[in-house]
Amino acid sequence: MLELQNLNVGYGYLQVVWDVSLKIHQGEVVAILGLNGAGKTTTLKTIAGVLTPKSGKILFNGQDITGLPTCQLVKLGLSFIPEERNLFTAMTVRENLLMGAYILKDNAEVKRNLDYVLELFPRLAERSKQLAGTMSGGERQMLAIGRGLMSKPKMVMLDEPSMGLSPKNVLVVFDAVKKLREEKVTVVIVEQNVNTTLSVADRAYVMEQGRIAMEGSSEELAKDDHVRKMYLGIA
Ligand SMILES: Nc1ncnc2c1ncn2[C@@H]1O[C@H](COP(=O)(O)OP(=O)(O)OP(=O)(O)O)[C@@H](O)[C@H]1O
Ligand SMILES: [Mg+2]
Repeated sequence: MLELQNLNVGYGYLQVVWDVSLKIHQGEVVAILGLNGAGKTTTLKTIAGVLTPKSGKILFNGQDITGLPTCQLVKLGLSFIPEERNLFTAMTVRENLLMGAYILKDNAEVKRNLDYVLELFPRLAERSKQLAGTMSGGERQMLAIGRGLMSKPKMVMLDEPSMGLSPKNVLVVFDAVKKLREEKVTVVIVEQNVNTTLSVADRAYVMEQGRIAMEGSSEELAKDDHVRKMYLGIA
């Protein structure tokens, strides 16, 4: 479903992603792990059309999407939920969610997607009339994820969705990922919460200093000595 071919990305003269190639199949949950500054966010932003690669190709369902603007990618079924939540703070929770469905023309479909998101995150249903800017950090994070799902994407890219959440809400987020997986939505997830992430992901890539250092099934990686030492804090 998604293929990166020899992607090189940087900021000005500084190159931070080196020759990254990967393949993600339809319905898979794939994690991208790595230490701070490894290039994970840069990679996601490049796929999402926020950054333009210096070289390399991005294919989505066989179509070359390299350099396409984000709005066109949403129409193709790709949703990116960034680390910075980018909510419309002066709008209500419900209005923020509806903004996520702006590409849909059919009101009945918008209503269905809204019901689906509110079921996934009941807290958002309770707070639907509250201004997004007055929601707590964790609630805002759920709102950002919910909004990203309002277009019923075929593939979702989540950048550190559990960041700043209480243990209970971390579970809410990972439950949402499990539900997406049951619905055969493809998920690419970047997380520091390596243990929990490997328990929901089918496969993972490990990025180190801008390159893919390892790849494998979650089971394999969870057993790997290097991964255990570097990412799970197990000596
Ligand atoms: N706008 C920018 N301008 C210059 N350098 C940047 C910019 N954004 C990121 N970088 C640098 O690129 C490198 C990769 O950053 P990136 O955000 O992709 O890492 P990451 O793997 O997502 O890290 P983290 O786990 O901390 O979120 C870092 O060294 C970072 O300082
Ligand atoms: Mg990041």
